[in-house]
Amino acid sequence: MNIKSIRVKLILWYMLLLALTLIFFSVLLYNIFSSSIRSSADVLLRSRAEGIASSIDTYWETERLEAIKDGVVVEEFSKIDNINFAKIAQRWVEEKSDDPQLIGTIVQIYGIDGSRIAYSKNIPKISILSQKTFARVVKGKSVFEKIDLDLPGAKPVDLRTFTMPVMENHKVAYIVQVARPLALLTSARQNLKFLLFILLPLTVLLTGLIGSILAKFANLERSFMMQKQFIEDLSHELKTPLSVLKGEMEVTLKKMRSPEDYEMTLKSGLDEINTIIRIVENLLMLARFDSNAMPLEAKQFDAAEVIREAARDVKVLADQKKITISLPPGVSAKIKGDENQIRRLFLNLLDNAVKYTPDGGSVTVDIADDHPYVRISFTDTGIGIPPEELPHIFDRFFRVDKSRGSVGFGLGLSISKAIAEAHKGRIEVKSEPGRGATFTVFLIKNF
Ligand SMILES: Nc1ncnc2c1ncn2[C@@H]1O[C@H](COP(=O)(O)OP(=O)(O)OP(=O)(O)O)[C@@H](O)[C@H]1O
Ligand SMILES: [Mg+2]
Repeated sequence: MNIKSIRVKLILWYMLLLALTLIFFSVLLYNIFSSSIRSSADVLLRSRAEGIASSIDTYWETERLEAIKDGVVVEEFSKIDNINFAKIAQRWVEEKSDDPQLIGTIVQIYGIDGSRIAYSKNIPKISILSQKTFARVVKGKSVFEKIDLDLPGAKPVDLRTFTMPVMENHKVAYIVQVARPLALLTSARQNLKFLLFILLPLTVLLTGLIGSILAKFANLERSFMMQKQFIEDLSHELKTPLSVLKGEMEVTLKKMRSPEDYEMTLKSGLDEINTIIRIVENLLMLARFDSNAMPLEAKQFDAAEVIREAARDVKVLADQKKITISLPPGVSAKIKGDENQIRRLFLNLLDNAVKYTPDGGSVTVDIADDHPYVRISFTDTGIGIPPEELPHIFDRFFRVDKSRGSVGFGLGLSISKAIAEAHKGRIEVKSEPGRGATFTVFLIKNF
């Protein structure tokens, strides 16, 4: 599959998921917001209406007490159908409708016959009390309503109204109606809708953009490629010994053989199996380093001594090729780390130096203090590495020019690099083709 298309697909899926999530939450937010502003607006209307009723009643009560003082008979002081009450209500509305609390609120007072006895200045001479509402309110019920008010020569106004009866001795005495234009609520809701409408696609787009940049940063393509290459290489490496094994067995089985022949086949088969086991062991070790699951037994030891031991291990091959290995005499380099792993690292580098140096060459090891590191270099006079191959030599299964008759798997340097890095160190390489190579290991003294 095309790697680019994997990336695009990943990002598109991600954007789709994000868009769905955002749409869900936006709808939820919008609904919660709408219903909460609507109910808080209703609470406000009701409290205004109740405030108005109690304020008018206080006016009326004051008036009543004055009249009693003047000797008027009390029974005449019912608010029901009382012209004097209508006057008081009118006076109250006139005085109070400029009250900052009531600006923008329409106030109307009705008698129990439905006639308007008082109304605030901010309403034209139109009654907004419908027959249906009136019928319910006279029965003692409060009513919330939404009304479209069509004013002649002006835009229609949406009003939220609250109409409530005011009782006197268990009878409806008069009706208070308050109303506020819905425009404020509608515009708040509209603003939110607009904001969500703009923000949502913007967020999704921006995230997609950032995602695609990040996916590039993260070298998604490179890691896909590397994985693909790795599997190809691994299959190839395993296929060779397995094919040899299969071939030998098939040939052997073709006819009856002597015990010596069988033994030979088994022995060479064992060699191939050992090769496979070595590849698998190496890969297992690399996988453990990759997932930081490689246990390191850190202790103090002399790196110079470990190099001398490793040099003894490659001596057989070096002697065969008449290659001299020179080590710094008598130095010691105390470092902390996993001695076995570090030995493997040195052995890999020495093995390469001898392997890739023609007969009669030389390998020189240098140890120096390079605080906080110990710096160990392995210089050979071998075939060297072409500059364009240098960046790859630490890759798994990588071998410069596989036809150079190399006998390795191309895993030694990747393992060495993993060991150095697990010890918070590193390996550097310098080489000129035909003139040899120098691998320099930096190991922290106090790991
Ligand atoms: N000292 C060196 N001189 C020249 N080429 C080298 C040297 N060391 C490594 N290389 C090149 O780098 C490649 C990778 O080295 P590496 O040690 O990872 O693999 P290998 O030696 O081929 O196999 P393995 O170490 O797994 O047995 C080698 O195949 C070789 O081509
Ligand atoms: Mg090697």
